Amino acid sequence: MRLGISGKGGVGKTTTSAVLSRTLARRGHRVIAIDCDSDPNLGANIGLGEEGAAKLRPFLDQSGPRRRVPEGLSPVQLLEEYGTPGPDGITIMLGAMAEKAGSG
Ligand SMILES: Nc1ncnc2c1ncn2[C@@H]1O[C@H](COP(=O)(O)OP(=O)(O)OP(=O)(O)O)[C@@H](O)[C@H]1O
Ligand SMILES: [Mg+2]
Repeated sequence: MRLGISGKGGVGKTTTSAVLSRTLARRGHRVIAIDCDSDPNLGANIGLGEEGAAKLRPFLDQSGPRRRVPEGLSPVQLLEEYGTPGPDGITIMLGAMAEKAGSG
C-alpha cells in the first residue's frame, strides 16, 4: 500500500502520518515513512526526537534549480543510504529541506 497525505497547512497531516505509521508498523506492516515537506517535522513526530530528526539527511539533490532524485541509485540503494531506523521498525526518509524560509 502506498499512501500520500496532503492538505492545507496545519490541518494535521504530520500528526496523522506519524500515528498511521506507528500503528501500521505495530500491526506488522513494513513502513517507510517519507517526509516530503521542505520544512520537515515527521521524524520528530514519529518518535525520533528533535535530536534524532535533526540527523536526517535529505535524499533529493537540491544543488540545481530543480530537486532531483540522485542519479545512479536504485530505490533499494536509496533506502539503504538515506533510510533511518525509527521506533516500531519504521524506516524514515526525508525528501528535501529548505535552508531558510523565504517570503510569501
Ligand atoms: N486531532 C488533533 N486534535 C487536536 N490537535 C491536533 C490534532 N492533530 C494535530 N493537532 C495539532 O494541530 C497542529 C498541526 O498539526 P500537524 O503539524 O500535524 O499539521 P500539518 O498539517 O502537518 O501542519 P503543516 O502544514 O504546518 O505541516 C499541531 O499543533 C498539532 O499538535
Ligand atoms: Mg506537517
